[in-house]
Amino acid sequence: MSARGECDRIFAGKHMNKLSIVILAAGQSTRMKSELPKVLHPLAGKPMVQYAVETAAELTSEKPLLVVGHGADQVRRAVGDQAVYVEQREQLGTGHALLQARPLLEGQSEVVAVWYADMPLLSAETLRRLWELHGEGQSLITMLTVEADDPMGFGHILRGEADHVIGIVEEAVATEAQKAIRELNCGVYCFDGDWLWPHLTQLPLSPKGEYYLTDLVAMAVAEGQVVEALKISDVNEVLGINERTHLAQAEAVMRRRINQKWMLEGVTLLAPALTFIDATVTIGQDSVIYPNTYLEGATAIGRQCRLGPNTIVRDSTIGHGCTIEASVVEGAVLEEGVDVGPFSHLRKGAHLATGVHVGNFSEIKNSYLGPGTKMGHFSYLGDATVGQEVNVGAGTITCNYDGQRKHPTIIEDGAFIGSDTMLVAPVRVGAGAKVGAGSVVTHDIPPGSIAYGVPARVKGGVKEE
Ligand code: UD1
Ligand code: MG
Repeated sequence: MSARGECDRIFAGKHMNKLSIVILAAGQSTRMKSELPKVLHPLAGKPMVQYAVETAAELTSEKPLLVVGHGADQVRRAVGDQAVYVEQREQLGTGHALLQARPLLEGQSEVVAVWYADMPLLSAETLRRLWELHGEGQSLITMLTVEADDPMGFGHILRGEADHVIGIVEEAVATEAQKAIRELNCGVYCFDGDWLWPHLTQLPLSPKGEYYLTDLVAMAVAEGQVVEALKISDVNEVLGINERTHLAQAEAVMRRRINQKWMLEGVTLLAPALTFIDATVTIGQDSVIYPNTYLEGATAIGRQCRLGPNTIVRDSTIGHGCTIEASVVEGAVLEEGVDVGPFSHLRKGAHLATGVHVGNFSEIKNSYLGPGTKMGHFSYLGDATVGQEVNVGAGTITCNYDGQRKHPTIIEDGAFIGSDTMLVAPVRVGAGAKVGAGSVVTHDIPPGSIAYGVPARVKGGVKEE
């Protein structure tokens, strides 16, 4: 075993038994009514299965084993090398799903933890407590249970003498008395590795033609063994997603958790319920977020920014002290102290250097704007490289597309582009040059010159003006 592996197993000074993790993700999930495999439906911007995989990584450095089936290839592609895979070709139940892991895991670890990929709110903390409890006693199975008023289609827990767990009865076959039992099976277990694998092959076939993982409990009890349970009270943690209403429920819980986290980190959310921050986003201290703001994908926000209201920032890097008001920013980089909006659209490849100002109704795509450059009103820059301290007048447009190809525009440092200028690319405006209002620039303008007209002609130098 590696030094890292050893290290993983000591929590709060306690030595923990070696753990392998199996995540079940093969189910058909018909109730989602979707072409997309259920476990790939996003929750706060990340595929659902990603939460289980990341939670596993918090417990052990050994990669979790993901049992895939329905949409196996898509799931494999999405999760990549964060997990090891086994395929369950036919979905013959939760017991059969776990059995697929046997060739890889038998004899490998003292404890095998199992849970589902459709349970994204389950915390590493709860799993760690389960693993600890399992290590403390002599039980072959330690399971997670929850007290709830709504049975949620879960199995009910049967307890016998001395309050020990003696079985699980599925909702569908439960008697009225059993249905009244409020303690439910979450489907999260720690098994004794040596005991698990040989017993898994002996599971009986259920009347539904499936092999139920839950039947292991009755088997252990029949052998006179103890089954332990860790009872939790937060139903949210074990919310299983089977249909889109569950997805919306889980989304709401996850959003609240994320917002809570950022507020505790020093970010002001004026209306948390109207603020949508993906799990993939980071935000610096003292940033203030106004309502109806969506921060999505691979986005990093610096300190002391002011974002919103009514703003989307997606896959973008925003430096310290930026302001974005009522705008859409996608695939862009903003350095420090940039302000954008209201009502502008920064698209892929927009890079705004320190102190750039972009005002209303502007669009920028695949363009660099140098430090201190200003573009106040109604302009479009595409495929442009703009120097520093340039003034882009109202209504300036780079005509970058000739119907077949895109062409570059270069505007050098300190240039002044008059209002309503068309820059017909490829074209270059030299440093310090001035272009008069209403010009159509079809040829390069030399540095320091003045040009205007349709098409624009050089009429002299800025100095003589
Ligand atoms: C299971 C439990 C039930 C528990 C509930 C909690 C059994 C028999 N019952 O019921 O006691 O209260 O979970 O949610 O275990 N899966 C596979 N392959 C299969 C079947 C399922 O990978 O052949 C996966 C599914 O993708 C799903 C998970 O296992 O993520 C649970 O399967 P599901 O059929 O939903 O079990 P439940 O009926 O919810
Ligand atoms: Mg289920």
